[in-house]
Amino acid sequence: MISKLSTSLLAVVLALGGVQAAQYPLTESHHGTTFFDGWRFPAETYDNTTNGDTFWATAQNTSLLYTNDAGRVILKVDNTTSVPYNEKRYAPKLLSKNTYGPGTVFVMDAVHLPYGCSVWGAFWTQGANWPAGGEIDIFEGINQRKENMMALHTSGGTCTIDQNSQMVGRIDATDCDQSANSGSGCTVYDQNENSYGEAFSQAGGGIFVTEWTNDAIKIWFISRSNVPDSLSATADTFDTSVLGTPTAEYSSSTCDITNLFEPQTLTLNIALCGDFAGLPALLEQTCPVLEGDKTCYTTYVIDDASATYANAYFELNYINIYTTNQTAGNDVPTVSGIGKSTTTITAGVSKTASGTGSAATNGTNAAGSNSSAGRNGVEWGLMGLIGLGLSLII
Ligand SMILES: *[C@@H]1O[C@H](CO)[C@@H](O)[C@H](O)[C@H]1NC(C)=O
Ligand SMILES: *[C@@H]1O[C@H](CO)[C@@H](O)[C@H](O)[C@H]1NC(C)=O
Ligand SMILES: *[C@@H]1O[C@H](CO)[C@@H](O)[C@H](O)[C@H]1NC(C)=O
Ligand SMILES: *[C@@H]1O[C@H](CO)[C@@H](O)[C@H](O)[C@H]1NC(C)=O
Ligand SMILES: *[C@@H]1O[C@H](CO)[C@@H](O)[C@H](O)[C@H]1NC(C)=O
Ligand SMILES: *[C@@H]1O[C@H](CO)[C@@H](O)[C@H](O)[C@H]1NC(C)=O
Repeated sequence: MISKLSTSLLAVVLALGGVQAAQYPLTESHHGTTFFDGWRFPAETYDNTTNGDTFWATAQNTSLLYTNDAGRVILKVDNTTSVPYNEKRYAPKLLSKNTYGPGTVFVMDAVHLPYGCSVWGAFWTQGANWPAGGEIDIFEGINQRKENMMALHTSGGTCTIDQNSQMVGRIDATDCDQSANSGSGCTVYDQNENSYGEAFSQAGGGIFVTEWTNDAIKIWFISRSNVPDSLSATADTFDTSVLGTPTAEYSSSTCDITNLFEPQTLTLNIALCGDFAGLPALLEQTCPVLEGDKTCYTTYVIDDASATYANAYFELNYINIYTTNQTAGNDVPTVSGIGKSTTTITAGVSKTASGTGSAATNGTNAAGSNSSAGRNGVEWGLMGLIGLGLSLII
C-alpha cells in the first residue's frame, strides 16, 4: 500500500505540468440557451459513417434542437414528419467547436437519453482523422437495451483493457483496436439498469464523467440519487477523487493512451438503424423480430413514426469541461462558469430565436480569444499536488 502510494506520488511529481491533478478547473459550461454556442454541425448532411438512415439536423431545425421551458437542452429525432420511402429522417449530430487533450474531464448531466427501436444515441469523442486518432465512447445505447455501453477505439499500437483494473462495469471485449472484434472496440457494459433507457429517466437521470489523462481513461456513470452534492453544475472545480471506483477504466499499463489519442472532439448524436442499432441480430435482442423481408429502415424510419421516436431525445442539464490542458485547439473563448460572464455569441439555434445558424456553423466569433486558462491549469495542478501531498501526510 505504502509503495503504491509513493509510486503514484512520484508519478504526480514527475508530471508537474499539472496533468495528474485530481482537481480540475472548470473551463467551459454548455447549458441553457447558450448551449448551442459551443457546438457546430458536421460537414456531411447525412449519416455517411455508419450506414444509418438520418439526415443531420441543421440550424433550421429549431423543433429538434432547442432549450425547453425548464431551461434544459433538447436534441431530438424528428417524430412529426411522415418520411417517404428512400428518404431519411432528421436527427441531431453536434460536434464541439473546441478539441481537448489529456488532462481533461468531461461531464454530461442528463435527465433523458434517446432510446427506442432503431435508435442509436451516443456521447463520444473522436480525433480529427477518425477512425484513426482514438475514440472514447462515454454513453452509447441502442434500441431498448437497459444498460449503457462504454468503449475505446484505437488504430495501431497496443491498447487493451488491463484485467487488473478496478471497475464496476462488465468487460465485454478487451482489445480496443479497430481491427479486432469486428470493430466493436473494448466494450464495457454498465451493470446498473439506471444507466440507460426508461429506467434512467425514472431515476432522475444522472451524470457521465470521463477523466482522460495519460495514465488512464476512466468513465463513471452516477445515477441522480448518488450524485455527490459537491458536483454541482456551478462548481468551479471538479475533484474526480470523490467518485469512487469507475464504471469503466482503461489503464495506460496496457494501453498506449499517450500515442493513440489525438486531440478529441466531443460528439453528441442520434443515429437510426445502421451498423449497430440496425443489425437484425442486435435489434431483435430488445425489439420485435423483423417481419418477412422488412429491415430496420422499412420497419421504423419511414412513414409516420411518431410513437417509435417519442423517446428518441437527449434532455440535458449541462455539459461541462474541466481541464488542466488548454493547449489543444480552442476556437471559442472559454466560459468561466454559470452565472458569470459568458460569451456574447448569438446561438444559431434556439427555440425563441430561429437564427441563421451562422454562429453555429463556423468556429469563429467576435469575442476575445485570450484567456489565462493555461496558467490556471498549472496553478490547479500544483494545488492538486499539494492537496495530494497533504492527504498522504495525514
Ligand atoms: C462524409 O462526408 C463528409 C463531408 O462531405 C466528408 O468530408 C467525409 O469524408 C465523408 N465520410 C465518409 C466516410 O465518406
Ligand atoms: C429540418 O431542416 C430541413 C432543412 O435543413 C428541412 O427540410 C426539414 O423539413 C426540417 N425538419 C424538421 C423536422 O424541422
Ligand atoms: C495537452 O494536449 C495536447 C493535445 O492533445 C497534448 O499534445 C499534450 O501532450 C497535452 N499536455 C499534457 C501536459 O498532457
Ligand atoms: C414526439 O416526441 C416528443 C418528445 O420528444 C413527445 O413528447 C411526443 O409525444 C411525441 N409525439 C408523438 C405523436 O408521439
Ligand atoms: C461564418 O459563417 C457566416 C455565415 O455563413 C459567414 O458569413 C462568415 O463569413 C463565416 N466566417 C468564416 C470565417 O468562415
Ligand atoms: C493575446 O495575448 C498575446 C500575448 O500576450 C498578445 O500578443 C495578443 O495580442 C493577445 N490577443 C488578444 C486578442 O488580446
